[in-house]
Amino acid sequence: MADDPQRRFEEDLALDARLTAEARQGLTGTARAEVYGPAYDRDDVTVPPDGRSMAEQPRWRRDFAIDWPQDHHVARRDFTKFLVLTSGAFAAGQGWIAAQSLVRHRRPPPPRKRIAAMTDVPVGESLMFDYPGEHDPCLLIRLAEDKLVAFSQKCTHLACAVIPRFKDGVLDCACHNGSFDLATGRNLSGPPPRPLPQIELEVVDGEVFAVDVTARTS
Ligand code: FES
Repeated sequence: MADDPQRRFEEDLALDARLTAEARQGLTGTARAEVYGPAYDRDDVTVPPDGRSMAEQPRWRRDFAIDWPQDHHVARRDFTKFLVLTSGAFAAGQGWIAAQSLVRHRRPPPPRKRIAAMTDVPVGESLMFDYPGEHDPCLLIRLAEDKLVAFSQKCTHLACAVIPRFKDGVLDCACHNGSFDLATGRNLSGPPPRPLPQIELEVVDGEVFAVDVTARTS
């Protein structure tokens, strides 16, 4: 049969060009350079869910090739890294809180400070003072002849000043409509998450002294 170059070319194309391919056993000759390139690992090849080639895939899938097999390996590694980091951060945070609480319990109480004479605060009125520091505003509140309480004036939400409203028995925070119980300082409504810090008082010979601050969580 006459040699037909076009037919031979098409037959060659039909052959699996790889040297290891069964169809090439016993054949000799040359092949294109890319034939000798490393074969891809199956795991590294993108296989879109519908089986069509990447060129036929919608634009979003080509931009975000979430079905790449390697993505699973990376995601698993990243997830492990994330777990280790967050667990470490959590443990460090717990340690820091424990250390803070230890330091707080061992800290000596602030110095005793005279606030006012009993006669300076009539029943049903309040008086402002600073304790323990110069910039720690507090309220001394006289609820009855023999009942005095004092609280930090800073709202436990975002530190706005609370104002006593005696007729309703509350301390109001106008910033976000928070309120606290006038007698106990406990948070009653609105966003404040905890009671107002309480100022411990001592009354000696008609003089009122602040002797400590108690922060409360509930
Ligand atoms: S600051 Fe008091 S309720 Fe927000």
